[in-house]
Amino acid sequence: MIRVATLDDIDIIRRICDASFELNRWSNSSFLQEFSKDHSIVYIYEFEGKAVGYMVIWKLSLTVELVTFAIEKEYQNKGLGKKFFTTIIKEYKGYTWFLEVSVSNHVALNLYKSFDFKECGIIKNYYGSNLNAVRMTRDAII
Ligand SMILES: CC(C)(COP(=O)(O)OP(=O)(O)OC[C@H]1O[C@@H](n2cnc3c(N)ncnc32)[C@H](O)[C@@H]1OP(=O)(O)O)[C@@H](O)C(=O)NCCC(=O)NCCS
Repeated sequence: MIRVATLDDIDIIRRICDASFELNRWSNSSFLQEFSKDHSIVYIYEFEGKAVGYMVIWKLSLTVELVTFAIEKEYQNKGLGKKFFTTIIKEYKGYTWFLEVSVSNHVALNLYKSFDFKECGIIKNYYGSNLNAVRMTRDAII
């Protein structure tokens, strides 16, 4: 089940985030800020009654930016990320999508390519330590 997150989900989102990302982990206040932005939507993915993933998107007039997305470590590589992303992409299929992903994140790169995301640029040192990001886009389906 996918639902919109509430402030009560912050602790679980933080836990998933800390276990999933080695670099640029978000603080509680970073997540809190998302709840106060009109264009930001935080989603929770529940599997067997447990919150196992989250996604933050920014919905603008014609575009959606995927801001951050993770599945809890022990639930990764079981198809849940794909299911979560399939549902959200379908809901916003009329929008042009953008995202950034680390050049070294082959799992996420494969996932996005399977949804017809194309590389549209490289952002040098996006994550610090000389680690570059690939900027990707997906055309709106009208
Ligand atoms: C990226 C992430 C959300 C994907 O979720 P997931 O549940 O692990 O992924 P799924 O099992 O649904 O697999 C989805 C696709 O990812 C790719 N993938 C999965 N495991 C992979 C692996 N070991 N190697 C390469 N590609 C892989 C495949 O394209 C797969 O689709 P397929 O099974 O049809 O081939 C999850 O791994 C995660 O949270 N990673 C850490 C945080 C992160 O990197 N977030 C994205 C930041 S941009």
